Amino acid sequence: MFRKFTTLLLLSLLPAVAMAAFKPSAETVLITGANHGLGLELARQYADLGWNVIATSHRPPGDSRLTQLEALKKTHPNVVIEQLDVTDTAMIKALAARYRNQPIDVLLNNAANVETTFAADMAEGAKTWDKIDFDAARRDFDVNTLGPMRVVQAFGPNVIASKGKRIVAISSSAGSFATPLPGGIAMNYGASKAALNKYFTLLAVQMHKHGVLVGLFQPVFVATKDDIKDMKGAAPVSTAVTQLIKQIDLMSPATDGKIVNFSTGRVDAF
Ligand SMILES: NC(=O)c1ccc[n+]([C@@H]2O[C@H](COP(=O)([O-])OP(=O)(O)OC[C@H]3O[C@@H](n4cnc5c(N)ncnc54)[C@H](OP(=O)(O)O)[C@@H]3O)[C@@H](O)[C@H]2O)c1
Repeated sequence: MFRKFTTLLLLSLLPAVAMAAFKPSAETVLITGANHGLGLELARQYADLGWNVIATSHRPPGDSRLTQLEALKKTHPNVVIEQLDVTDTAMIKALAARYRNQPIDVLLNNAANVETTFAADMAEGAKTWDKIDFDAARRDFDVNTLGPMRVVQAFGPNVIASKGKRIVAISSSAGSFATPLPGGIAMNYGASKAALNKYFTLLAVQMHKHGVLVGLFQPVFVATKDDIKDMKGAAPVSTAVTQLIKQIDLMSPATDGKIVNFSTGRVDAF
């Protein structure tokens, strides 16, 4: 009985311990999918800028996919790693409850259901209308569309309570009506990103009264996978993330609810 009580007490103290290194005067960012690609580099660059970084990943502690993020935390006491699966409403709500008193200046919805190699992504995206895998489609919508909305619902109050007041999602030109990917590829992924765009345009309207800016950002093509590291035309991750952070900084009523191409800085058509 006593041991159970002690364990519960220790668990309730965990967030306070984890956040102990957070500077109250520093800005805070929460990033989803922070263990790889753009998310990992976002965590690294925001940490280098002196922000408090809540770097989340759906991977459990000890998972080999967390190695690079754990290495970052070792050199940056302003980084806290939290497990967060954007499809798990209960997990998201539990984390938000632990951080209820922590203002979040930038809520960065980066996680997506993508393959670990570019080749596998292409193979998935090449499936035509007659080969749609509806379980895979459901997974894309769960992670890419509903995931950010679950995170916004849980952490919206933290953003409203902050000074920075920015909610961001990383979208994709695969979701564009104006300039779809050639050949009509990436049906599931593209549809899930188009639906995310719609959610965020409506969210922007609803967040006006709270003074919160809502931004959608899409890259052109960033070398986040090992098999495209040396591919011509694929932007280095560090360069792309520096541009993205700059564009998040530049968010204004003129970009609110719009989709900004963070490689060019231009507002793109939906
Ligand atoms: N790279 C590009 O050129 C490009 C182009 C257009 C749009 N984007 C967008 O940019 C964002 C980042 O992509 P990326 O290229 O950096 O790919 P990535 O390296 O594969 O990153 C995706 C991240 O999302 C995580 N994730 C997957 N399922 C999750 C879940 N259920 N809950 C929480 N996290 C989950 C992944 O974790 P695991 O890997 O451990 O599973 C990974 O950390 C995505 O929104 C993507 O759609 C990228």
